[in-house]
Amino acid sequence: MRLPGGDLPARLADRLHALDYTVEGVRLLLGPVAAGALDREEVVPATRTLIGDESPLSLVSRAFMLGEGVDARLLEGALGVAVDELRDLVVEADGVVRASVELAPYGVDDHNWYVASDWSSRRTGRPTRTEHVLGVGGASTMLAQCTVRPDVDRALDIGTGCGVQALHLAGHSRQVVATDVSRRCLDLAAFNAALNQVTLDLRQGSLLDPVAGEQFDLVVSNPPFVIGSPESQRHDYRDSGLDGDGLCAALVRGVADHLTEGGWCQLLANWEIADGDDWAQHPRSWVADGGLDAWVIQRDVQDPAAYVETWLRDAGQQTSDGYRAAYDAWMTVLDSRRVLGIGFGLITLRRGGREAPFQRFQHAAQEWVQPVAPDVERWFAVQDVFAADPSGVLLRPIRVGPDVVVEQHREVGGSEVVTLIRRATGMAWTGPIDPFGLDVLDALDGVRPAAEAVLGAAVNQGVTPEEALAASLPVLRQLAEEGFVL
Ligand SMILES: C[S@@+](CC[C@H](N)C(=O)[O-])C[C@H]1O[C@@H](n2cnc3c(N)ncnc32)[C@H](O)[C@@H]1O
Repeated sequence: MRLPGGDLPARLADRLHALDYTVEGVRLLLGPVAAGALDREEVVPATRTLIGDESPLSLVSRAFMLGEGVDARLLEGALGVAVDELRDLVVEADGVVRASVELAPYGVDDHNWYVASDWSSRRTGRPTRTEHVLGVGGASTMLAQCTVRPDVDRALDIGTGCGVQALHLAGHSRQVVATDVSRRCLDLAAFNAALNQVTLDLRQGSLLDPVAGEQFDLVVSNPPFVIGSPESQRHDYRDSGLDGDGLCAALVRGVADHLTEGGWCQLLANWEIADGDDWAQHPRSWVADGGLDAWVIQRDVQDPAAYVETWLRDAGQQTSDGYRAAYDAWMTVLDSRRVLGIGFGLITLRRGGREAPFQRFQHAAQEWVQPVAPDVERWFAVQDVFAADPSGVLLRPIRVGPDVVVEQHREVGGSEVVTLIRRATGMAWTGPIDPFGLDVLDALDGVRPAAEAVLGAAVNQGVTPEEALAASLPVLRQLAEEGFVL
């Protein structure tokens, strides 16, 4: 791709900022209804809102977010650059300019970035092509919000696509290496890095090949984890070309050699659940020999038909003539592998330096309130604390998290009361709690040692202090892992 170089990306970004072409600025321009529709990739309300509006912010939004053709001279005026200088970002015909890629503001917290990527099939109404460069989507933001962000020396983004994870990493890493198999992705990632004035070390190649012999403090990947798509339907962004969930297996198995002591790896993954297997069978086998701490969270399971439909729709293939044949061919592959379900989730690995690493596999389908990165970090810290000095935990002042509520349920006319604790943020865990646990929770004040709360609960519940102290450790551990107590 011929994308603008030199100082043009920085000039362009300055101009876009000056126009208030930001997530918030566009939301204000469009109003809540059209902005809400655009979040769902529906452009009609936004098009209706901006019709005839030739203000600079409107022109830029119409061209680069809605994909409309706009007057070339007006766009030049808005951007302060000649259309020719935009090179392959746009095509011009008869004085009308159309953006050949989406160039959208993207931001979390107080960041405002610009990200160029290919138009989605929802925008074009056509199936995406094999080398489609994904924009910032639900999976991208999920991974970004789950990623732990200590200040690190070296970070790696595998399968960088438009570079969104790498932009995040650049905020807290001295050096960011970002890889992809696709030249088109790397071209767009380089342009996005220049737009956002960050430095990325971009390398072409598969998985860990481009970083042979190197180590990192943090590795992230939102890889092409989709399972079973036949060769004829391959897309770079979703299909690896490896059998089954082989790509995620290779990544998890391979990354151990690339993590520094204390280093982290976080990735989104899919795994096959074959007839007769428990859901964690595949991820368990991937982490078995790497010597890494592992927390594998399954967020969702789809049956093969729902899965195939999801991904055919994602690539805009549901309207194509070959839909039935594509569906059939994909189901044939999954059937041949005896796949009954496909799990989706988040894998977090850490080189903890322990002989017997912590490894846990949990299904957590509850709605998360992002960001959950603090919950991830806490889970690992809790493992360390309990491994170092389990009973010492009782000497610590422990407090209840600020987002914790207690709920009691009783069936109408029934007498049994079920007590639940619920967190309102982060991973938003919910679970039953018994009277002993509840008494402990109520008495934890964050000042006195936790043991005092446990001994008070022992009196209330009529159990011996020894029994109470022994029973409290697993309870406190679970409460701490799930963020109910801090
Ligand atoms: C789902 S997209 C993720 C893009 C971006 N990182 C994000 O979070 O939105 C997966 C990316 O992996 C790249 N990819 C595909 N096969 C790969 C491989 N074997 N090694 C490295 N990257 C690969 C694709 O080109 C694509 O850019």
